[in-house]
Amino acid sequence: MGKAKVVSLINYKGGVGKTTTTYHIGCSLAQHHRKRVLLIDIDPQTNLTFLCSPYSEWEKFKKKNGTIKNLYERFQARTSMNVARAIWKEPISISAGRIQNLDLIPCDIDLLGEDLAGGAVAGTYPTFQQLKKSAEEYVRERSFLKHLIRDVEEKYDYVLIDCAPNLYLMTQNALLASHWYVIPAIPDHLSTIGLSILQRKVSNIEAQIVKATQFVDSVSKSGAAKLGGIIFVKVRIGGMVLTNTHESIMTQVGSTHPGLCFETFTTELIGYGEAAEAAVPVWEHSSKNAKMASRKAQYTSITDEFIRRFV
Ligand SMILES: Nc1ncnc2c1ncn2[C@@H]1O[C@H](COP(=O)(O)OP(=O)(O)OP(=O)(O)O)[C@@H](O)[C@H]1O
Ligand SMILES: [Mg+2]
Repeated sequence: MGKAKVVSLINYKGGVGKTTTTYHIGCSLAQHHRKRVLLIDIDPQTNLTFLCSPYSEWEKFKKKNGTIKNLYERFQARTSMNVARAIWKEPISISAGRIQNLDLIPCDIDLLGEDLAGGAVAGTYPTFQQLKKSAEEYVRERSFLKHLIRDVEEKYDYVLIDCAPNLYLMTQNALLASHWYVIPAIPDHLSTIGLSILQRKVSNIEAQIVKATQFVDSVSKSGAAKLGGIIFVKVRIGGMVLTNTHESIMTQVGSTHPGLCFETFTTELIGYGEAAEAAVPVWEHSSKNAKMASRKAQYTSITDEFIRRFV
């Protein structure tokens, strides 16, 4: 087995399905394809963590093993991170037992402070030595996830990182640590405008980090994440067909981003809230609703495509 493929789900727009997509692709990779998966929650909202586990279980885990916040603190203090300890083995409980080979590094609301505080400042006319020093700090703050994943990449086939709706320090870390980033998006007008802004911002951030790494000897000079795909979510259906706006926007984005849009998308359906409350994937939540089957089919199909794209 080679090294894990690392994929981040990124969109600075909130509520566009980043966490739901990360979670269900992760679950499907493990449950339906027997892949070894590590989910990393870097959003202080801690949503991915609570899709995997009830609050009380998380509290216990946090007390005993810590969360990503503790790993970041240890990284900053230059002590051993002990990543293995913060990995929650198979946290998701379904009726047939636990989802096997699906692990989680949970998050914590307190990561918020770290995320906002991040960002080394360069002086106005820095000397080369000053520049080197600040570049070192700048790169180091953004290399936390890269270091973390290096410790565990042989143990997994896929590492999926669920980002917060911003491009702050932790998302920048995710970009530096990933092979690809995927944009989940709702196909409405505002989200589509956001797509090009997002790609431009991501390119700028990546270029800045890669430039800074030139001053630093301690990190590998490898590049940053490439855009690996756009996944449409919550596509609205009116009666039996897609609404015109959503359909035409998907076609339009498909033509401006050739080959990048996933062929399968999720439609806006009920049942996500109940499944989230039960901390299980939508296809595990028992309901007499016939649409259960279509929710499962949508995610298994997205996951098939995910496997084909990220080899
Ligand atoms: N296909 C769907 N049909 C109906 N509801 C959905 C669907 N996918 C996601 N949702 C719901 O939409 C809401 C937002 O989804 P989610 O939390 O995944 O977005 P997010 O981009 O991670 O949000 P944030 O930016 O706050 O992190 C959630 O309540 C989720 O249950
Ligand atoms: Mg989220």
